[in-house]
Amino acid sequence: MILVTGGAGFIGSNFVLEWLQHGDERIVNVDKLTYAGNLQNLSSVKDDPRHIFVRGDIGDTQLISQLLTTYQPRAIINLAAESHVDRSIHGPEDFIQTNILGTFHLLEAARAYWMQLDQGAKGNFRFLHVSTDEVYGSLAPQAPAFTEIHNYQPNSPYSASKASSDHLVRAYHHTYGFPTLTTNCSNNYGPFQFPEKLIPLMICNALAEKNLPVYGDGLQIRDWLYVTDHCTAIRRVLAAGLPGETYNIGGWNEKTNLEIVQTICDLLTEIYPQRQFRQLITYVADRPGHDRRYAIDATKIKRELKWRPAETFATGIRKTIHWYIDNQQWTTDVQTGAYRQWIEKNYKQRTL
Ligand code: NAD
Ligand code: DAU
Repeated sequence: MILVTGGAGFIGSNFVLEWLQHGDERIVNVDKLTYAGNLQNLSSVKDDPRHIFVRGDIGDTQLISQLLTTYQPRAIINLAAESHVDRSIHGPEDFIQTNILGTFHLLEAARAYWMQLDQGAKGNFRFLHVSTDEVYGSLAPQAPAFTEIHNYQPNSPYSASKASSDHLVRAYHHTYGFPTLTTNCSNNYGPFQFPEKLIPLMICNALAEKNLPVYGDGLQIRDWLYVTDHCTAIRRVLAAGLPGETYNIGGWNEKTNLEIVQTICDLLTEIYPQRQFRQLITYVADRPGHDRRYAIDATKIKRELKWRPAETFATGIRKTIHWYIDNQQWTTDVQTGAYRQWIEKNYKQRTL
């Protein structure tokens, strides 16, 4: 059995679904169900006895210790986090609480559990921490992509909190010999992504004929990976990664934000030929401290663990657009009053 945290969020729910498609090993899924957690994402495994959902906080040491004792997992995959950069700019505290303190408490509970395992189980145990390329900071236009030894230079409260959690994970391996693995992945997209992030926001706004708000000049670069490819990479690192190591995960898909938005518009116009989606593109005030470019060098995971992505951006973005068209009820259900308040808060002040 494995224990996953944050398994009702975007990547977490894709990970749970993907995991259960590939074997019978059970999952305990601990998620606080913040605004970003959604049990609808897991409705297809609602009655599956291999999946045990527990609503809880990774910072709740008593709960986590109890779950570890009860279920005796061979691994923990830590996906739980506050994940949206713009929200971290408006209010960093939840990011400090969950990403730093929560990870610390989770590490403590996990280490105590690991210490009392017998030699065999202890040797096999893994704590896999899912992190981000944003910890490395921003790249100059021609600079080589981030490798695992790139300096940490986080620029937002979100990335600083993730960097801090990565350092704690590293220290637990170095100091206590705790068998950690860390992954640093580039931007994900795909089904179940909350429509506050670039790609689902643009698809949902376009379908609703709302403006498509591009921050600044729209020439910032991100490196896009289809979410299922991230999930297969996590499984591969869990299976074959070396304790104490970090692995960068990326899809070799650098694109400017403007290219992404234009591509979404053009693919939607293919599906709805009478509608001109590009006309909805609106330039708005930039994100404070906006990182200009991220790019992942995924050579290590390819060379050492033989992982490579299955999707190209062209295939992944089509699947994603079709998923949002086919699941408009899911979108309607997450666009609650709280969602509308966030959109108001984030975009109202940006009007140029
Ligand atoms: P998300 O915001 O969609 O989901 C986060 C999940 O964590 C939610 O279900 C939420 O309820 C849960 N959660 C939040 N605080 C919690 C707490 N204290 N205890 C338990 N559960 C809690 O995020 P995501 O995009 O799925 O990202 C998952 C992980 O992957 C994060 O650690 C993020 O930093 C990392 N990551 C994301 C991306 C990306 O592009 N989305 C890329 C690289 C790495
Ligand atoms: O790089 C990995 C990271 O990718 C993850 O660690 C984060 O959890 C995830 O949220 C994502 O961070 P970004 O800030 O890159 O993603 P976001 O979707 O918020 O924005 C992508 C780019 O699009 C960024 O340059 C800002 C821009 N943007 C975003 C929104 C929401 C816009 O131009 N307009 C928008 O409305």
